[in-house]
Amino acid sequence: MPLSTLSSLAGALILTPVALSQPALAPAASVCSSLWDTLGSTLVKSSGPQYNATAAGTWNLFNSLDHPTCIVYPQTASDVQVAMKSIYEQGARYAVQAGGHSAMIGWNSVTDGILISFENMTRVSYDADTNWISLQPGLRFSDAEIVLEPHGVAIIGGRATDVGVGLLLGGGLNFAAPLYGWSADRIAEMDVVLVGGELITASATNEHSDLFRALKGGANRFGIVTEFRIYAAKTGRKDEKRWYGGSITYPGSANQALLNATVNYINNVVDPNAGAVIALNTFNISASDATILYVFYLGNNLPQHIFGEFLSISSTSQSLSPLSYFDMAFLVPGNARGNGQQFGGSSWLGDQGMFLNGYNRFLDFTAAFAHPHLVASSLIISPILVSQWEASLSGPNAMGNPGVPYASINFDLTYAPGDAFRPEDVDEGFKSMLAETPPSHGLPLFISESNASQDVFETYADLPFLKATYAKYDPTRFNMEHTDGPIGL
Ligand SMILES: Cc1cc2nc3c(=O)[nH]c(=O)nc-3n(C[C@H](O)[C@H](O)[C@H](O)COP(=O)(O)OP(=O)(O)OC[C@H]3O[C@@H](n4cnc5c(N)ncnc54)[C@H](O)[C@@H]3O)c2cc1C
Ligand SMILES: *[C@@H]1O[C@H](CO)[C@@H](O)[C@H](O)[C@H]1NC(C)=O
Ligand SMILES: *[C@@H]1O[C@H](CO)[C@@H](O)[C@H](O)[C@H]1NC(C)=O
Ligand SMILES: *[C@@H]1O[C@H](CO)[C@@H](O)[C@H](O)[C@H]1NC(C)=O
Ligand SMILES: *[C@@H]1O[C@H](CO)[C@@H](O)[C@H](O)[C@H]1NC(C)=O
Ligand SMILES: *[C@@H]1O[C@H](CO)[C@@H](O)[C@H](O)[C@H]1NC(C)=O
Repeated sequence: MPLSTLSSLAGALILTPVALSQPALAPAASVCSSLWDTLGSTLVKSSGPQYNATAAGTWNLFNSLDHPTCIVYPQTASDVQVAMKSIYEQGARYAVQAGGHSAMIGWNSVTDGILISFENMTRVSYDADTNWISLQPGLRFSDAEIVLEPHGVAIIGGRATDVGVGLLLGGGLNFAAPLYGWSADRIAEMDVVLVGGELITASATNEHSDLFRALKGGANRFGIVTEFRIYAAKTGRKDEKRWYGGSITYPGSANQALLNATVNYINNVVDPNAGAVIALNTFNISASDATILYVFYLGNNLPQHIFGEFLSISSTSQSLSPLSYFDMAFLVPGNARGNGQQFGGSSWLGDQGMFLNGYNRFLDFTAAFAHPHLVASSLIISPILVSQWEASLSGPNAMGNPGVPYASINFDLTYAPGDAFRPEDVDEGFKSMLAETPPSHGLPLFISESNASQDVFETYADLPFLKATYAKYDPTRFNMEHTDGPIGL
């Protein structure tokens, strides 16, 4: 044994009391080890097939690169309380994951922190006496609709089949939103675990009505919802084809005419039985640019006075037919995985020139940066009719009715498959594009289709209310400081 080793051994011996005491565990490791004891190894995992599948299963490739210290799989609200209490007491970082569809980087997974995954809380049931649906947060809407369809009822959820229940906390846009309202505005009650672990029930009329309103659009900032109770929509069985519609595909060369038609639609259509969404592809490496329009009408055709301008533009293909609500819920899969994704958002109200400017600005960005990084980019326009706010069954939401119809705008970038690198120049270009296409005055941004860097809450009708509510339910600002989510509270 060389002398140097002996002398360092001697040094170690002198330091024995210090060397033998456990080095302090990092907060996340300490939470994981205590939850392993209290909740057990079925509910707490730091490796293995379930851990891998959850961590790698996010829609956005960028989020699948996170490596949670452990993943907690609660089976009851009380398991969430135990986890949250420990996270809070140890000051650990954390994230919550439901359907995994967030485009926002860091919002549904975490590195050096605890991920609470709802994949083992997937119950849904219907009570015909109250007409309420009880829904646990781990379901995808399509799975819920399969259970509910035999009762002739549905949850008003999203447009893409694969999206999860986290959608409700963003407001929630559905093809039938003009008729049924924001998906969140059909929630009757929510069971919520607050940052410190306390479980409460919030509704539009109880002592937590402030929290209830803030949750409807507040995303992941105001607590963890362990059960939603929702007013069922009596949409009918799958053989009841009450709607007519589907998709129409146009060549990219029709985009200006389609933009014009979209502006006329937004500024003139007030019939809540109509629904439309338009995805203007501005770049797609594997296809010539094509635009897809989704149109629906509660009736047996697409009325000319509503859809005539769209129908008069020559299309490359149409897939239109009588549809049930159930059919509509399975029209757009939205389940692709493996690409890095970035969203940006805006909200536009204006004339055709204004929309064309925004579209051209996005085209310029795409032309400058798509090669070689992106495989697709699109501008997705969701008309928000005034009736969508007026349909609320549970009072106002966090966004606040602006009183005018407008277009909710989603800029959508898809990076190459497996490409985990996000080039700085693309990001900078996207940032200036967003700065030059801001929301029109007084219109809220749609939080589920914006960028994490955008101050969405600032565009809501009552920011002071939101801040006061946040301060009341999370006075130590634990959520803002320990989990990624919307900025500005
Ligand atoms: C392809 C695609 C299509 C989409 N289509 C639509 C659409 O038609 N309509 C629409 O409204 N939106 C749509 N979105 C956006 C979608 O609403 C949001 O991405 C939504 O947040 C997804 O919820 P999730 O449960 O799948 O995702 P997750 O990523 O698991 O959750 C989303 C966020 O909510 C938080 N969260 C989830 N559950 C809870 C809970 N129980 N308590 C507290 N926080 C929670 C998570 O921490 C995360 O920050 C779409 C997104 C994609 C990628
Ligand atoms: C989980 O993923 C890691 C890293 O990719 C891998 O080394 C490990 O073998 C995987 N474990 C299982 C059980 O699949
Ligand atoms: C939790 O859900 C996953 C994914 O569906 C499943 O593989 C696992 O067996 C479930 N665990 C329990 C304890 O039910
Ligand atoms: C769109 O509308 C603008 C302004 O009304 C008009 O100048 C333009 O020609 C229209 N474009 C198409 C392709 O219809
Ligand atoms: C690109 O086009 C191909 C072929 O039409 C289509 O399958 C794919 O979904 C498109 N990708 C995106 C991200 O729009
Ligand atoms: C979008 O948000 C991410 C963080 O999630 C940030 O890195 C990026 O710069 C933002 N992009 C824009 C265009 O603001």
